[in-house]
Amino acid sequence: MTAPLRGSDATVVDVALGDRSYDIVIGRGQLASLGARIAKLRPGAKVAIVSDENVAARHLDAAVAAAKSGAAQVSTIVLPPGEGTKSFAHLARLCDDLISQRIERSDLVVALGGGVIGDLAGFAAAIVRRGVDYVQVPTSLLAQVDSSVGGKTAIDSPQGKNLIGAFYQPVLVVADTALLDTLPEREFRAGYAEVAKYGLLGDAAFFAWLEANWQDVFAGGPAREHAIATSCRAKAAIVARDERETGDRMLLNLGHTFGHALEADADYSDRLLHGEAIAIGMALAFEFSARRGLLPKAEAERAIRHLAAVGLPTKVSEVRGDVSGIDRLMTLIAQDKKVSRGKLTFILARAIGQAFIETNVDSQDVRVFLEEKLPGSVVRR
Ligand SMILES: NC(=O)c1ccc[n+]([C@@H]2O[C@H](COP(=O)([O-])OP(=O)(O)OC[C@H]3O[C@@H](n4cnc5c(N)ncnc54)[C@H](O)[C@@H]3O)[C@@H](O)[C@H]2O)c1
Ligand SMILES: [Zn+2]
Repeated sequence: MTAPLRGSDATVVDVALGDRSYDIVIGRGQLASLGARIAKLRPGAKVAIVSDENVAARHLDAAVAAAKSGAAQVSTIVLPPGEGTKSFAHLARLCDDLISQRIERSDLVVALGGGVIGDLAGFAAAIVRRGVDYVQVPTSLLAQVDSSVGGKTAIDSPQGKNLIGAFYQPVLVVADTALLDTLPEREFRAGYAEVAKYGLLGDAAFFAWLEANWQDVFAGGPAREHAIATSCRAKAAIVARDERETGDRMLLNLGHTFGHALEADADYSDRLLHGEAIAIGMALAFEFSARRGLLPKAEAERAIRHLAAVGLPTKVSEVRGDVSGIDRLMTLIAQDKKVSRGKLTFILARAIGQAFIETNVDSQDVRVFLEEKLPGSVVRR
């Protein structure tokens, strides 16, 4: 199936947060509607579009043209690509640029990029002039289904990822699914892990739909829009219930405790992309749940089979390069999630679509389980 080139009607998902509610507009070609939407939201506003070099080379002209049709003035700021851009140095430069471009509190910052640009520009918007409104125009699959929604903004610290930031909701998200046509396939596949996550954690019917239709999601037809809209609806519902992650929002961390440890162990390099780490992490979470007798082994195998079918890694042995031993991984796991008296919090599952928060996982159980999964380990009986 080839991607249709025509635009599509937008699907609109509401993020219901009272007076901070906003729309996620999803559809092929929706970038063109940016100007009209800006004009409606903030008539007469100046707009600063923040992007990275990779995205700017492909989509900045179209974004500027679209914004110009509705904004009083449009300026641009282009940063280097990559996680390294989520740093104090780039944040400082970005804030200076926004201020020198005379972006005032009545104006708008537009984040045009993947999760790196969304997190950084969102945080800059949160602090420049004590808060300027911002719009997310996510350009990676991960950003369209996850990072652009929910208002988590951050930069990294030498001690860890996303340690400096703010909850700061955008006023609009425009997810143009056609922008994903230029995304490298490996990045698309990694973002798909988060799509599958929504099925695995809370929507068995969506997971079954993905099993049948994932090829069309990759190809870029209406199935892609359906998958993105369903993912956004799932995230929006959870964020509306628990904006600041004191409860239910933790479900979104399915696969992330194991995944973050592997990601950190690979130094956040392209040896292991975030979504790839999460695919392995979700496979481990389902296997671990089966091991604890929470769900039939066949159910865990079904979850893993789908991730593997789309080409995602599901085993620690598939990480490129060396993986550290159990001690280091356990240290990383303990750092990622709060440990109290040797107990860890994990997102486990009773079935596909039925994840839950387990706060009482013995770290020794995790160690024994994970040790068996490490490459070269001998399964103990
Ligand atoms: N705020 C949140 O809730 C949240 C949630 C998940 C992840 N994140 C953050 O998101 C970041 C990862 O996001 P990501 O995977 O989008 O990474 P990214 O922003 O680095 O984008 C991945 C790569 O794809 C390129 N790219 C993006 N869109 C493109 C397009 N349309 N065409 C061609 N190239 C394109 C980028 O330049 C980059 O090289 C991490 O920093 C993570 O911490 C935040
Ligand atoms: Zn994630």
